[in-house]
Amino acid sequence: MADLRNNFVGIKSPNPFWLASAPPTDKAYNVERAFKAGWGGVVWKTLGEEGPPVVNVNGPRYGAIWGADRRLLGLNNIELITDRDLYTNLREMKQVKMNWPDRALIASIMVPCEEESWKAILPLVEETGADGIELNFGCPHGMSERGMGAAVGQVPEYIEMVVRWCKQYTRMPVITKLTPNITDIRRPARAAKAGGTDAVSLINTINSITSVNLDTFSPEPSIDGRGSHGGYCGPAVKPIALNMVAEIARDPETQGLPISGIGGVTTWRDAAEFLALGAGNVQVCTAAMTYGFKIVQEMISGLSDWMDAKGHRNLDDITGRAVPNVSDWQYLNLNYIAKARIDQDACIKCGRCHIACEDTSHQAITQFVNGVRHFEVMEDECVGCNLCVNVCPVENCITMEQLPSGSLDERTGKTVDPNYANWTTHPNNPMARQAAE
Ligand SMILES: Cc1cc2nc3c(=O)[nH]c(=O)nc-3n(C[C@H](O)[C@H](O)[C@H](O)COP(=O)(O)O)c2cc1C
Ligand code: SF4
Ligand code: SF4
Repeated sequence: MADLRNNFVGIKSPNPFWLASAPPTDKAYNVERAFKAGWGGVVWKTLGEEGPPVVNVNGPRYGAIWGADRRLLGLNNIELITDRDLYTNLREMKQVKMNWPDRALIASIMVPCEEESWKAILPLVEETGADGIELNFGCPHGMSERGMGAAVGQVPEYIEMVVRWCKQYTRMPVITKLTPNITDIRRPARAAKAGGTDAVSLINTINSITSVNLDTFSPEPSIDGRGSHGGYCGPAVKPIALNMVAEIARDPETQGLPISGIGGVTTWRDAAEFLALGAGNVQVCTAAMTYGFKIVQEMISGLSDWMDAKGHRNLDDITGRAVPNVSDWQYLNLNYIAKARIDQDACIKCGRCHIACEDTSHQAITQFVNGVRHFEVMEDECVGCNLCVNVCPVENCITMEQLPSGSLDERTGKTVDPNYANWTTHPNNPMARQAAE
């Protein structure tokens, strides 16, 4: 059986599934039940500095996007960091860590961007026996207006400075949580590394407005007729998170920096994809908020079954395996040629592939053949874009098939070249032409 034990920057947990800092981890009552359900670790809901806690709105704090089957695809929130007293949180964390010594317990922290504030809170956290700290540089609303959260995460120099303070004032491993509300994720990651961070975690939530009430003209969630931007998460953000994780994993300056992958992890497969793109473990929030703590059991059994089936013995066998295959566009093989094929037995003749290809692609799918409704790919027109695969409602009804080398591409009239060739040397590339002249 596959070994799912996780060692992330020296923090050990029985599996790579941690709950992200958020409502599921905001009190001992939740975290105890999460551990009973099987979660390998938790990042406690972000702690603020000593003093009166923050105040949340007293009305709706969530907005959402759903699929046609009402399955939740994206969640937006305007919640702040913990609104519970610092010492209550610290007391509960210490007790939970004592009760569950084999699970990872990480303290998420957000205090003002001043050395004294960080210096003051770190020993208090260390005293709980927490396994590490996560620096919340990501909260996109409420806290950023106060110079914290994303306001720090968007300035690489501040990140480096705060990480340096944390490394100076605590022995605990430091995980720097990054905001995706930035153009180039490599810059804050490099800054965190320069400051001496042990790892980065990403992504925090994305600035968003999920909807507008067209009767009141108020963005939702609406508080007395007004709305504010919130933070977007859930399955919809996974592609953005995967790309950002991959960018850091393949950047020569941050290569090898441990990454905790966050953003839309809902199934074991999502987790495996994050691991393959370089994450050492994953964190989950929306899936637990939607389906409850027990969802981790399917994640554990699914990952374990898949690893057994593929002969992967442990997480190291998977971590980073897809990173060498992430490439800039210019290095993709232009001699690779694929065509769509429709399985006539599976086709329900809905016509969506025809409409999509006819109106927005390459007019390569028939609608009628000999007067009979029939959907078939015309190889001499198909450019292999796979739009039809993505709009077809029947899974695997349309597949993409590679043309073997040496065969004829009916669209171009050329024989398929077996050699790899990319844009950097293509005759149409002005740069390549200049280099040749
Ligand atoms: C209601 C809510 C509150 C959150 N609060 C925090 C927080 O206090 N600190 C933090 O670092 N991230 C917070 N997050 C962000 C999550 O930890 C996580 O980064 C994000 O939701 C993406 O993961 P997901 O797609 O699995 O939800 C919060 C998310 C939600 C939905
Ligand atoms: S792959 Fe693209 S071009 Fe080919 S049939 Fe499908 S939609 Fe049309
Ligand atoms: S979209 Fe799929 S099911 Fe519908 S006609 Fe095309 S191939 Fe058939």
